[in-house]
Amino acid sequence: MAIANTVDLVTTARADGYAVPAVNIVDEMSLRAVLKAAQAAQSPVIIQTSVKTVKATGAQPLFDAFRHAAEAATVPVSLHLDHCPDRAVITEVIGTGWSSVLFDASDRPLEQAWRETAEVVAEAHAAGVGVESEIENIIGVEDGVGSDEALHSYTNRQLVDVATDTGVDLLAPQLGTAHGLYKASPVLAFDRVLELGQLTDLPIVLHGGTGLSQADFDRFIANGIAKINISTTVKLAYMKAAQAHIATAEETGKWEPVKMFDQISAAVAATVTEHFEHFGSAGKAQALAGVGA
Ligand code: 13P
Repeated sequence: MAIANTVDLVTTARADGYAVPAVNIVDEMSLRAVLKAAQAAQSPVIIQTSVKTVKATGAQPLFDAFRHAAEAATVPVSLHLDHCPDRAVITEVIGTGWSSVLFDASDRPLEQAWRETAEVVAEAHAAGVGVESEIENIIGVEDGVGSDEALHSYTNRQLVDVATDTGVDLLAPQLGTAHGLYKASPVLAFDRVLELGQLTDLPIVLHGGTGLSQADFDRFIANGIAKINISTTVKLAYMKAAQAHIATAEETGKWEPVKMFDQISAAVAATVTEHFEHFGSAGKAQALAGVGA
């Protein structure tokens, strides 16, 4: 299938009352495991890469692996760059073929964030690439990007003014969630999604999906969330499967990397499959046939 357009996937999900899972992969194995699970569930999916993953693998090899897997897939799949404050990396992935980017300007003061977001939108849209915008920081450090403290918070009107003026495609506000594992119960801002929805038609993105309950997802989606990011649960599944495999290898004296890869892939697939169900995206691929880049 042709590589899908992230913004089309999210807009369609919003109209149909579900959210597209945006899953952070770390390598080709996790990429393939997520796509296999998406096919089995017939769910659309957004594959996300952190800046760290892009730097570790290289944009071109990562994109080639994605394209190869995505073109063979029977579900719509797009490629998104997650939190990126680094303009050079944004330029690189736009040139390489990513479907969309999250320009994370939450480390900049408002005026600078506003100006640079407009510049990124101009650059991305000229190449047909969508832009997610974050100017308030979502709590937590993800692959080396972000902060555990709220650096910038704005009013709904300020957020919408920046988004509308700059022409971004997707909006990522603070909604009380955090990246990583929750140390205490989060205070979730369900109503903020409704309030933003009264000011703008832009699809709204929920970060920090790991650790939320089905009731939380249902309420966020009912209020208008159409893209939900999950990363930590994928990393945990990956690493714990590796750890379990190595523990068994130590006991049995059988050291079989390929079997470990199978165990990791199965664990990653299992956690994303659960989320396809949680987000209501399972079974929606068919209706999206033809949502190309
Ligand atoms: P978690 O790591 O909490 O799942 O959040 C993922 C995320 O929001 C990526 O941008």
